[in-house]
Amino acid sequence: MATHPESFHSTPGARFNRIDKRVRSREKTHKNRYYVNNFARAYRSWLVPYIKSRLQSESFRPVLSFLYTDLRCNVDCHYCYIQDKTILGMDMQVAKDAVDWLHSVGCRVLAYMGGEPLVRKSFIIELTRYAAEKGFFVYLPTNGILMDKEFIDEIGRAGVSTINLAVDAVEQHEGLPKYFNRIKSQFEYLVQQEHQYGYITFLNINITDNNIDEVRELTEIAHEYGIATDYHINEPPLIKYDSYEHEEDGGWISEKRFQQVDEIVDWLMDKNRDGYPMVNSLEHLRAMKSFIRHEQHPWPCRAGELSMIIRLDGSFAPCFELYNENEDWGNIYDGPKFDRIKLAARKRICSPHCLSTCNFQVTHYTSSGLHWLQWIAKHAYANMFGVS
Ligand SMILES: C[S@@+](CC[C@H](N)C(=O)[O-])C[C@H]1O[C@@H](n2cnc3c(N)ncnc32)[C@H](O)[C@@H]1O
Ligand code: SF4
Ligand code: SF4
Repeated sequence: MATHPESFHSTPGARFNRIDKRVRSREKTHKNRYYVNNFARAYRSWLVPYIKSRLQSESFRPVLSFLYTDLRCNVDCHYCYIQDKTILGMDMQVAKDAVDWLHSVGCRVLAYMGGEPLVRKSFIIELTRYAAEKGFFVYLPTNGILMDKEFIDEIGRAGVSTINLAVDAVEQHEGLPKYFNRIKSQFEYLVQQEHQYGYITFLNINITDNNIDEVRELTEIAHEYGIATDYHINEPPLIKYDSYEHEEDGGWISEKRFQQVDEIVDWLMDKNRDGYPMVNSLEHLRAMKSFIRHEQHPWPCRAGELSMIIRLDGSFAPCFELYNENEDWGNIYDGPKFDRIKLAARKRICSPHCLSTCNFQVTHYTSSGLHWLQWIAKHAYANMFGVS
C-alpha cells in the first residue's frame, strides 16, 4: 500500500501542527461567515426598515416591537412589577397575527417580552420559526433557568437572532433569583453553540441596591466568554400598583449607594471605551447617575413611534412602563391609534422619571447615521472589534 508522502516524512508533532492549523483555519472561516451573516441580518432587519420608516414618515412603521407572550414567571425578582403574573399567556393565533401585522407595516425586529417567555418553550420555538421564516430578527430575553440543551438546539434551528440572558449576581441574594452560578452550565452550552446557529448572546444586568459589587464580576465573566452585555438601572414603577408586593424591598437605589453607583458607571464607561462590547451607549450609562438622583431632564423618547409593545390580547401600548394604562392605542386587528402630539406631551412628564434601556438606545442610535452604523456593527462585529 502506498504511503502518503506527508505522513512518511512527518514526525507526529508536525502532523498534529498541520491538522491543528487546518482546524483553526476552518474555525476562522466559520467565524468570518458568522460575522458576515450577522452584519447582513442586522442591515436587513434594522437599517432598511428604519430608512423606509423615515421615507414614509407619515405612516406608522415601528422598527422594533416587543411582544408579550406571557406575564407568568418561574421566579420572583423583587424589582419586577409586572402585574397579573397568573393569567394565561398569549394565544398562538394572536401571536402569529401580530407577526403578520408587524410584517405588513415593515417591522422586522420582534422581541419577546414578559414575564418569562420560557414558561412555554414549545410556543416560543414555534413562533420563532414562524417569524424567522418571514425574515424577522427574533430577540429572546430570558432568565435562562428553564433553558436546557435541547431547547438551545431547537431555538437555534428555529432561527433566533439574539438571546439576552438576564443575570443580576454571581451567587444568590435576597430578591435576586437570577444569578450566574444557577445557570452556568446552560450558559456555557448557549455560548458554545453560537456559531453553529448564528445567534448572538448578551448578558443583561440590572444594577440594583443589592448587587453593585457583582456588576464588575459579571462584566468580566461576559468578557471572558467573548459575549456582549447590557445594563439597566433599577427603576421603581411609574404607577402605583396595589397588588405589587415589593414596593418597599425592590432593591431601589438608595442615597447611600450613589457613590458606589457612580464608581461602577465610570468603570463601565471605561470598559466601553476600551472596547468591551455593550448595548448601552456612553450617554445612557452617564444618564444613570442623574437618573438615580432624580435630576434627569426630559429626553426625546421614540416609544409609540419607532418602538412599541403588543400586549397578550393583541392590543398596543407605547412601552413596558405604560403596559397597564387604559388608553386605547389600537390593536393588531384595527390598526394603531398612537397620537404623536398627545404622546409627545405625555413624554415631557414621564421621561424625566424613566431610563428605559431599550427606548433610550433607540433614541440614541437613530439620532445620526453614524450611530446607526455603530448599532449594526454591534450586532455583527461586537465580539471582533468591540465597537462602543
Ligand atoms: C421584565 S423581564 C422579562 C424577560 C425575562 N424574564 C428577564 O428577566 O429578562 C426583562 C428585563 O426587564 C428588566 N427589568 C425588570 N424590572 C425592572 C426594573 N424595575 N427596573 C429596571 N429594569 C427592570 C430586567 O433587567 C429584566 O431582565
Ligand atoms: S425573571 Fe424576568 S419576568 Fe421574572 S420576575 Fe424576574 S424580571 Fe420579572
Ligand atoms: S419615556 Fe419611558 S415611560 Fe415615557 S413613553 Fe418613553 S419609555 Fe414609556
